[in-house]
Amino acid sequence: MRLAGLYGRGRRNALAPQVVELDLSFASLPAAFDGYRILHVTDPHLDALPELAAVAGRMIAGIEVDLLVLTGDVLADHEAPPASATAPLERLLAGVVVGDRRLAVLGNHDPAAMVDALERLGFEVLLNRSIALTRQGERIVVTGLDDVHCFYTDAARTALFGGDGDFRVALVHSPEMADHAAEAGVALYLCGHTHGGQVCLPGGRALLTRLTRCRHAASGLWRDGPTTGYTSRGLGTSWPTLRYNCPGELTVITLRRAR
Ligand SMILES: [Fe+2]
Repeated sequence: MRLAGLYGRGRRNALAPQVVELDLSFASLPAAFDGYRILHVTDPHLDALPELAAVAGRMIAGIEVDLLVLTGDVLADHEAPPASATAPLERLLAGVVVGDRRLAVLGNHDPAAMVDALERLGFEVLLNRSIALTRQGERIVVTGLDDVHCFYTDAARTALFGGDGDFRVALVHSPEMADHAAEAGVALYLCGHTHGGQVCLPGGRALLTRLTRCRHAASGLWRDGPTTGYTSRGLGTSWPTLRYNCPGELTVITLRRAR
């Protein structure tokens, strides 16, 4: 009975994500991007818990953002057809109004076939490449990397060093490139992968982070040299589909130009 109760509570927790709002200030942010809003979705794993799409979709219905970024682990089961996760992802995002672009990188649970599936939803999947976002003649550069665990080559690290002099944002599935991003002078690094631990002690201390390096960046807001990073707890769960003391999240980030 006690085990069944614990399981039920963990399942209810997994279906009770939060919308986290963050204001992040940078002296180097071009003035035209002051107030720029980013919806950060990571680790939805919606094939594992498809009913989460409706719950979370209601929480963000009608939200208006400039940029939508997805930092991987769309799937939970690497062998499953991508549509088993992208169909509920499409429902999750149906009510979101995106002014500029939808950008994505893959996670360690995503097969290469996920690229086409995400492109069908309007995402540009950044495989060790950068794109520029422009406003009123100013620009920021967004670089997306292949996953550290699943697809890593030296091209990922090299891609971080493009766009010298620009305000740069890195999209990476895992925080395990944080030190390289700092070396490259990246201003903002957005990632997930750790699920915030998914199973945490009361107070939110993670029992497991799944990181082999950069453990300082395991969850939440962090700094590494010139880089401000945010490691989201992620929306979904891998198996078991349970959370304790660590709610899932969707993150709305507003960029501010520091005065
Ligand atoms: Fe994940």
